[in-house]
Amino acid sequence: MTIIAPSILASNFASLGDEVRSIEAAGADWVHIDIMDGHFVPNLTFGPPIVGMIRPVTKLLFDAHLMVENPQLLFPALAAAGVDRITVHAEACVHLERTISEIRGLGMKAGVALNPHTPLSVLEYILEEIDLVLIMTINPGFGGQSFLPSMLPKLRQLREMLEQHGRSDIYIQVDGGINAETAALVKEAGANSLVAGTYIFSHTDRAAAIASLR
Ligand code: DX5
Ligand code: ZN
Repeated sequence: MTIIAPSILASNFASLGDEVRSIEAAGADWVHIDIMDGHFVPNLTFGPPIVGMIRPVTKLLFDAHLMVENPQLLFPALAAAGVDRITVHAEACVHLERTISEIRGLGMKAGVALNPHTPLSVLEYILEEIDLVLIMTINPGFGGQSFLPSMLPKLRQLREMLEQHGRSDIYIQVDGGINAETAALVKEAGANSLVAGTYIFSHTDRAAAIASLR
């Protein structure tokens, strides 16, 4: 089963609560929450108070993707805001193992995101402690960018790596440029959790858009 996680980065922030309700009604599995700090990526989004405000609106899992420096500073506030999983960028964490264990220590699931140029080898000694790997299929920072086809072999290699380690239960997530066409390619390559922002939120029929990605 393919998990569909709409990215609220592409939603209308003036009606954020209604936007979240609309994707739940349309059959979404998780809410993908992009947190950016203007340093790790050249864009700013929102932080824990806004995440906490939309928490009562839905029962869906909150899947937070942190594109920030010093992500550990946000963990307690995001846990209190009701986030279920925090995914950190390996490139932003000097002490990645410690960072992951801090997320888990606060009762949340932990994921690791890799920029397009970052090799899979950084995952080798931390697979025991995570439940998701996010392969960025764009350079992070903005919605609406084009999918990078060079990430398809990386997805296949990750699937093999997880099989070799007996961890095929770890979600393989993709994020960036996902639409009905690229969804088919990434699923064939092993992805089973698809983030999509522009594609879902630009459709008036969001249920049809979500169904077309499964
Ligand atoms: C970008 C974010 C993505 C973004 C994807 O750095 O991590 O989640 O919303 O947007 P689309 O689906 O428009 O490429
Ligand atoms: Zn994201």
